[in-house]
Amino acid sequence: MAVPLIFRSSVMVCGASMCGIVGYIGDKNARTILVEGLKSLEYRGYDSAGFAVFSADGRLELCKTEGKISALEKKAAGLTGHYTCGIAHTRWATHGAATEVNAHPHISSDGRIVLVHNGIIENYVNLRRLLEAEGVVFRSETDTEVLAQLVAKFYEPGRLVEAVTSALKSVQGTYGIAVMATDMPGTIVGARNGSPLVVGIGEGTWCLASDKSALPAEVSKLFYLEDTELVCLDDDGYRTMSLENVEIRKEVLEFQYEIEHADKNGYPHYMLKEIFEQPRTIADCFRGRILPEQGMVKLGGLAAIEDRLRDFSRIVITACGTSWHAALVGEYLIEELAGIPVEVEYASEFRYRNPVIGPETLVLVISQSGETADTLAALREAKMRGATVAGIVNVTGSTIARESGCGIYIHAGPEKSVASTKAFTSQVTALALIALRLARMSKMSGSQGMSFIQELMRLPEKMERVLEQASAIRALADEFKGQSNCLYLGRGFHFPVALEGALKLKEVSYIHAEGYPAAEMKHGPIALIEKGMPVVVVAPRYGVYEKVISNIEEIRARKGRVIAIATEGDESIRRHADVVFHVPDVIEPLSPLLTVVPLQLLAYYITVAKGLDPDMPRNLAKSVTVE
Ligand code: F6R
Repeated sequence: MAVPLIFRSSVMVCGASMCGIVGYIGDKNARTILVEGLKSLEYRGYDSAGFAVFSADGRLELCKTEGKISALEKKAAGLTGHYTCGIAHTRWATHGAATEVNAHPHISSDGRIVLVHNGIIENYVNLRRLLEAEGVVFRSETDTEVLAQLVAKFYEPGRLVEAVTSALKSVQGTYGIAVMATDMPGTIVGARNGSPLVVGIGEGTWCLASDKSALPAEVSKLFYLEDTELVCLDDDGYRTMSLENVEIRKEVLEFQYEIEHADKNGYPHYMLKEIFEQPRTIADCFRGRILPEQGMVKLGGLAAIEDRLRDFSRIVITACGTSWHAALVGEYLIEELAGIPVEVEYASEFRYRNPVIGPETLVLVISQSGETADTLAALREAKMRGATVAGIVNVTGSTIARESGCGIYIHAGPEKSVASTKAFTSQVTALALIALRLARMSKMSGSQGMSFIQELMRLPEKMERVLEQASAIRALADEFKGQSNCLYLGRGFHFPVALEGALKLKEVSYIHAEGYPAAEMKHGPIALIEKGMPVVVVAPRYGVYEKVISNIEEIRARKGRVIAIATEGDESIRRHADVVFHVPDVIEPLSPLLTVVPLQLLAYYITVAKGLDPDMPRNLAKSVTVE
């Protein structure tokens, strides 16, 4: 069930909603393991961070700071002891300032309970009033501190699980928490409701984290907590239980620690690394799924609904942000290839409307992280209304992947940069496979299917050719960096590409950008165009090419500066555009996979030219786990 996360309060709060948490018990130095774990979770928030660790003799050390994990790491260098147990947190505040006092862990006023939290406690105002009336003194403005104080209120020595369950029964909202008691060094209690929590197990190692990327190399097995489940970790192992303290048995899965993606591979930023990974990641998405000789695809993840694929009279695709742009490309792909009506819905709007869906509707839910709160809520709404739901997800084992029932993983590998790039192209590739699968059941012949697959297989090499233009695109960045506005235009399959190009630019460079269908420009946005304003026009040579050229002329007549993305060999476009980048020719339904790449590079290089960090843009977090 979706929990509404609405803060309606005049009290200033520093909610700690979209955050990352880690907990560790083991022989290695907990301080190092926790800080390394936080680095993997920094995509979930990076405005402040902290940890609490027990030394072998049971002494508790607390270290918190404003800013990124690098600031915490610097501050923590002073803690030279050996620590065997601890919890840590990286924060993305929803309300109020990101200050050291509001950073986690929070300690109860009696000093007995230490806690980190991901989520929002909705009834914290009432709980805080009640606790204050009992004489509890609060230090921070967070909703989280209420939880720490509440656990302390119920705490009896040695009975941490009982205190946590009692406290959680009083709270409304979402949480992924890790809790320690100062008189129980070596024990961590974790609990989940709405915010993900994975438990890792290894030789002499027990840990938990918001996501498996933060688990240390010692971990060889893991399991996921479900909503309202708790785990108690200590030197003897782990126990899982319900809020009623009834024991629960969990399915334990094998875990392979992945080091290969954990660094930037020589690139200055993850964003650039991930842009350059795309020829490989799109191939990873279709590899093993295409049957070139039959012009067909085999989607094992959809096997459960294989027999019913023919019965769906319509498809709804729901997602947020960049994934929503991929969904729009999916709409064009499925309607063009398979002729099935498709609607694309913002997941954030979905459950607040009265969407017309039922058993005849296939709902495709797209999410890179698999944890986006709005998308998860849309998934649950669709299921509740009787639709069949399939996920298109990157992070394996994520909540959306698990709750979808069926679907396909895009296999893009960890995406670290906050701005999504390789996930977009892999999502579009996955949608192309689904479109082909549906088309082959109806209007597409075997030979048409075969040539579609041939085109798909040639894409990675064509994408490499687009990437070869990186230095030419970088050369343009200096000119752009002083701009404050930019327009992105495209038609048909390239309208979503224009939207995506504009989103990339604004989120990393902070330059205001709008994406528009090229022909819509004259209905309003044309008023913005003035001398020198950059207008990026996605203009490959397909059906509406001539019309796009007319749109370019309209921009030029108003002295806008046109940057065109054109098809290789199209030199005549230079007569119309100020700057041209070429992409290889490909069938139109697959062309967004190429035309988006120069736009990703443009956003990246402009950001670097402005001296900004493209991997961690201000105000953003990679995984938006709040409404
Ligand atoms: C933009 C970006 C976001 C995400 C959106 C959905 O670069 O990354 O717009 O696309 O928050 O995230 P997922 O796909 O994880 O559900």
